[in-house]
Amino acid sequence: MNKRMHAFRMVRAQSRMWVLFLSVIISILLPSFSAIDCKMSASVTTDMEVKLKALECHFTWGIEKDDIKDRDSLPEKLLDRVMKFSSPNHATYFNLLAFLSHLEENNVSALEYLHKAESALKNRQDDTELLVTYANFAWVHYHSGNMNDVDAYIGKLENINKGVTTAIQGSLPTIHGEKAWSFLRLGGLFYLGAKESFQKALKEEPDNASFNVGYAMVLYRLEGLARKGNVRLAHTEGATQLRKSLEPDNTEIMVLLALQLQKQSRHESMKLITEALRLSPDVPLVIRYVAEFFSHEGINETLEVLKKAVKLSPHSSFMHNQIGRCHKSQFNQMSEQKRKGIWRVNARQIKEKMELCIHHFSRAVELKPSNVQFRLNLAEAYGDNYQLEEAMKIFTNLLKDESLSDSDKQQCYSGFSLFLFFRKKDEDGAVTQFKKAYQIPIESWDRNKARKRLKQIANQKRVGEASEILEFLATEDKKGRNAEAPRRVEVHSSDTDDLTDALGKGMKLK
Ligand SMILES: *[C@@H]1O[C@H](CO)[C@@H](O)[C@H](O)[C@H]1NC(C)=O
Ligand SMILES: *[C@@H]1O[C@H](CO)[C@@H](O)[C@H](O)[C@H]1NC(C)=O
Ligand SMILES: *[C@@H]1O[C@H](CO)[C@@H](O)[C@H](O)[C@H]1NC(C)=O
Repeated sequence: MNKRMHAFRMVRAQSRMWVLFLSVIISILLPSFSAIDCKMSASVTTDMEVKLKALECHFTWGIEKDDIKDRDSLPEKLLDRVMKFSSPNHATYFNLLAFLSHLEENNVSALEYLHKAESALKNRQDDTELLVTYANFAWVHYHSGNMNDVDAYIGKLENINKGVTTAIQGSLPTIHGEKAWSFLRLGGLFYLGAKESFQKALKEEPDNASFNVGYAMVLYRLEGLARKGNVRLAHTEGATQLRKSLEPDNTEIMVLLALQLQKQSRHESMKLITEALRLSPDVPLVIRYVAEFFSHEGINETLEVLKKAVKLSPHSSFMHNQIGRCHKSQFNQMSEQKRKGIWRVNARQIKEKMELCIHHFSRAVELKPSNVQFRLNLAEAYGDNYQLEEAMKIFTNLLKDESLSDSDKQQCYSGFSLFLFFRKKDEDGAVTQFKKAYQIPIESWDRNKARKRLKQIANQKRVGEASEILEFLATEDKKGRNAEAPRRVEVHSSDTDDLTDALGKGMKLK
């Protein structure tokens, strides 16, 4: 045993010596190698980084990820703009999409978008229009570790810049314009930056239509954020700029100007809305403003405009839905008057109203079956008309749909519970659905409504059942307090730049 032990110790000692020896050698040699290596690559990289940082593009404009509004839904909105508008801004939006992809650490998609930006610029008048795109290319390649490509793009940029006087290189209107439009799309925290960049661009090219339109939009938004109360004024800088930028085919500017003039110049604003509806009957981002416009108008006026407009665009799902909503409001008024006995109401008239309502909601659903709001409106109208089976079928299909967003689900539960409660007189069923609506932690009209109803129902119940409901609410509220940040349902207003298809949400007709 001693022998074996001894042999083992010898081997261990020898191997220790070897390890020591080797590590001494390595420690002598390595620093000199790696020092040379590091020194070289460090200076190359620093040189490259200095050049990169001097470029004008999304990577150097100080865009903080957390300042971007609705980062998740922004790509979809930008793509929608690219599809719906033949604007000179396509390259700008592709560049922004590339940058957003980079923020998601998706360099493959970032490069794809940059290639799209480049091809959107193929009819350019001037190579300087490529500067921001190529600078973005250089940065994406840098982050991907493709140093040769970084060099290649820096080379291309230097070539383009050769043709430009050094004095104006950093101050090209096209770069200010690109920055301004990007900032306008990034949300409220960037609007002041957008304004400043549009001003710089306009200083160089006061008549450029794109800069004038963008400047009008950013002023409109900033005035909207600053105003108190609901009234926009017709004689602000924003209004003047909107009027200046009005073009026969830019319906977005038309509806913004209409909103701006609505209170003070009704005739002109109605004309603008009518024209915008004629040209863009189904473009969500235009229609959203139109819906806001109508929310400040009377039902009769709205119906009058829409009835004419739908004749020109019989396939506009938006218009059919909106017309349905007008009839629905009138139906509600009539029913209310009948209930109070103030109005010599004619049952036949009420029935006709409801039929009109169902007709238009059905058309809206036929034309756009994917819109949850349209389907809920139709289901509710069927309920009002006591076509319970038809209503039930819509609710069942909606509630089966796994792909709905939480906010849509909440609305469906809420709509369904009201239906069960008022039309089917199924109180227990309604309670179950109200609870489901309440369990989705999105603060909204539907959630508050669910809470109110649950409390009302509890008040009328026997002690045991009542306390079960109240305990449920208390538990959910406690969960809410422990959660990190409460979520809010998106409020659609013209001062932000979101365009979902969920039209009519939160836009109740007066
Ligand atoms: C994307 O980046 C990773 C490193 O972050 C790199 O390995 C990969 O090659 C890059 N892809 C492209 C297409 O550049
Ligand atoms: C406005 O400026 C943009 C960006 O430089 C340019 O692409 C466009 O051609 C200009 N438009 C007019 C009408 O000069
Ligand atoms: C709206 O029109 C109806 C008839 O179509 C009329 O009875 C009602 O008084 C009008 N309402 C307003 C506010 O003008």
